[in-house]
Amino acid sequence: MDRKLKRGDRLVVASHNPGKVQEIQELLAPCGVDAVSAGELGLPEPEETGTTFAANSQLKALAAAEASGLPAIADDSGLEVDALGGAPGIYSARWAGKSKDFCFAMMRVHNALEQEGALTPGARRANFTCALTLAWPDGAGDTFEGKVFGTLVWPLKGTRGFGYDPMFLPDGAIETFGQMDPDTKHAISHRAKAFEQFVAACLEK
Ligand code: IMP
Repeated sequence: MDRKLKRGDRLVVASHNPGKVQEIQELLAPCGVDAVSAGELGLPEPEETGTTFAANSQLKALAAAEASGLPAIADDSGLEVDALGGAPGIYSARWAGKSKDFCFAMMRVHNALEQEGALTPGARRANFTCALTLAWPDGAGDTFEGKVFGTLVWPLKGTRGFGYDPMFLPDGAIETFGQMDPDTKHAISHRAKAFEQFVAACLEK
């Protein structure tokens, strides 16, 4: 798309997940855009009715852009576990229940893997996927996707990050996302990979 964001432009971060908003704002910081969260603007949280990460990121970005009259960026992401046929996938947040308890969600994943007899690292392969959409108030938009591959460990390791971070050991790393400092995670994460493409395509040089 020809339209680009410039330094100083206001951009809505269309998420109500504080961990995600923080990561997106950290990734946006060097770009010089003025990032404000959907929560701060009091925007409603649309229902995620899509069947793919891309479709859900598009509907969230579009809803925020239309409601605010500003460009909006939304991320839809999740954990896909090979031995579970890609679950929890787009339902990653829902696996944590109403109370958003990710220790419970990680225990659910671990129990499901045990039931499948997936006990070795090779049987516990997984990836995080992130679809990132930039939408404009007139309905135009672009979507970018990033993935990071790794294995799921048990017991959990680390208390940093959010969501499923303490059980995800990225390939080639010696620490889980839950143990890493944020800059190390930002250098390799699914979100960072989608962001690189977004910055190259949507931000004025
Ligand atoms: P949604 O995109 O709002 O539907 O939520 C995605 C869910 O996937 C989050 O609530 C997290 O549980 C999980 N998730 C996405 N990205 C990450 C990540 O970087 N680390 C850990 N969990 C993640």
